[in-house]
Amino acid sequence: MTDHSAKTSKLESLISNALSRRRFMQSVGLVGAGTFLAGMSIKRAISATQSNLLDFDALPANTSDKLIVAKGYRADVLISWGDPLFPDAPQFDPSGKGNAAAQARQFGDNNDGMSCFPLTADRAVMVVNNEYTNQEYLFDHDGTTLTADDVAKSQAAHGVSIFEIVRQGETWRVDQQGKLNRRITANTLMHMTGPAAGHHLLKTEADPTATQILGTFNNCSNGKTPWGTYLTCEENVNFNFGSTAPHEQSALEKRYDIKGDKSYYQWEQHDPRFDLSKNPNEANRFGWIVEIDPMNPDSIPLKRSALGRFKHENAAITVNKDGHVVVYMGDDSRGEHIYRFISKHTYDATQPQKSRNLLDEGTLYVARFNGEHDALSGRGEWLELTHGKNGLTTEAGFADQAEVLIYARQAASIIGATTMDRPEWIAVHPDQTTIYCTLTNNKERGSEGQPINGPNPLADNRYGQIIRWRPLLNDHIADEFEWDLYLLAGNPSIYDDARAGSANITPDNMFNSPDGIGFDAAGRLWILTDGKDSNEGKFAGMGNNQMLCSDPSTGEIKRFMTGPIACEITGLCFSDDNKTLFVGIQHPGEDNASSHFPAGGDSKPRSSIMMIHREDGRSFAE
Ligand code: FEO
Ligand code: CA
Ligand code: CA
Ligand code: CA
Repeated sequence: MTDHSAKTSKLESLISNALSRRRFMQSVGLVGAGTFLAGMSIKRAISATQSNLLDFDALPANTSDKLIVAKGYRADVLISWGDPLFPDAPQFDPSGKGNAAAQARQFGDNNDGMSCFPLTADRAVMVVNNEYTNQEYLFDHDGTTLTADDVAKSQAAHGVSIFEIVRQGETWRVDQQGKLNRRITANTLMHMTGPAAGHHLLKTEADPTATQILGTFNNCSNGKTPWGTYLTCEENVNFNFGSTAPHEQSALEKRYDIKGDKSYYQWEQHDPRFDLSKNPNEANRFGWIVEIDPMNPDSIPLKRSALGRFKHENAAITVNKDGHVVVYMGDDSRGEHIYRFISKHTYDATQPQKSRNLLDEGTLYVARFNGEHDALSGRGEWLELTHGKNGLTTEAGFADQAEVLIYARQAASIIGATTMDRPEWIAVHPDQTTIYCTLTNNKERGSEGQPINGPNPLADNRYGQIIRWRPLLNDHIADEFEWDLYLLAGNPSIYDDARAGSANITPDNMFNSPDGIGFDAAGRLWILTDGKDSNEGKFAGMGNNQMLCSDPSTGEIKRFMTGPIACEITGLCFSDDNKTLFVGIQHPGEDNASSHFPAGGDSKPRSSIMMIHREDGRSFAE
């Protein structure tokens, strides 16, 4: 603990220096300083023309409890929270009385990012994140006070679910007999790998080696490697830690929003591992990207520390033309950053097995976006997060590369990374030239430490935007890129200034808080929302959360699917033949809103994965 607090004060002063530097840049006009942008330049910046790829009738906004897809498509449920994954697993018990052991053999709660790995033409394995728990539905009580059994159940509902699916006509069904079926929870053994493995900041009484970590949780979105593994991204792990005794929050913990109070999940009340007053370093063992081999149910998941520690949203992977593996990553908090990792070694597609540890060695970078705030475009650069460079020295408070990675947020601030409006998913266009990232919203934009800047042009940003960038010369390891805003969400039915959004936002397709994104093989960009669904005030006319479909070559955006009450749409992948689009409905009925999705009647709402196919049998690659 002594090291910990000494470092705290050094880093605190460095961060405050970095912030003053940014304020200086703002005062000399290097960073935009207006309160918010005039609508005119947005209308000029982004145009939309009709796309041949979007050959469906757009849906109106929806406020009902029904999931609706565009005419000519059909949506069916593949699996819902609590469904059994093994022949001996109990059926879902809607009373909430089901125990931890049952939950550990069932599909976890709140499905988020997912990937589909083909096994044969008619069989595949799905790997799905179970991000968190809805306390109001998980138990047979309201979740206000938890017992030790409740905590164990909550830990079992988190993590990752792996299960085989088999084709059944136009859709798929879960095969409980699948040999690869597996649950990974907050208590599954994992190994720490890369520069932070064995580091003293990761040592605990239970694990003095700092390599044997139990579990993964708050697994938001994901990535799929070219060598056939799955990446699960640990996001809001701070909410899983608390304290049963007074715990003074350090500046480092503050930056990661780790608080020493009674946590939302209350794990610290019954599991000392999550009690900061007893095990302060345990929190450093989370906030990583974990690599899982879905083809081996006995494999030990590997936490890849070279990719840095922050609130990981997803991991968008591409293989550069020279063979280096490049991973783009967002850190989803207000004013946090966008990162890039470049593997040291190159990928050999003829020997995928040899590439299995490519994510252990390489260089992490963070993005700085230059450009005036009213231009909605500009140049940017990647800043290297390597110990000994760019001021990331021992004197600056980083003893080694592991500390740069464990405190990646602080390192990014010191070297002048651009503060962003909550980076969520990142997706690489199938032509490999352009990378898209959702910036979901940021009510703090324009406040102290988060000045308006090029890619984040609106103060008090309630609607969000999508930024994209192109590496110079199509080289993903180039240090520079060009960026522009693909869309700025808004409400054109009530505003005629910048808050109306960009030209490709209309009263017919408006939405707020873009979150999940992904491309299909034909180059359509699917946009999934996690926004305010009040349908009132600023959000009037937007309805429930939804999935839109967009063609980046024309800028056109159409509403394709609307979700049930109080859900988020998140998680997206395709079957190998591109005929099934899997999409997640997360937390329907959140906060006791009146949803009975998917079963209807007076049933308990349950997060579910939907399978969408075209009724004419055509694929999403056409
Ligand atoms: Fe789990 Fe940032 O969404
Ligand atoms: Ca989510
Ligand atoms: Ca998200
Ligand atoms: Ca979100």
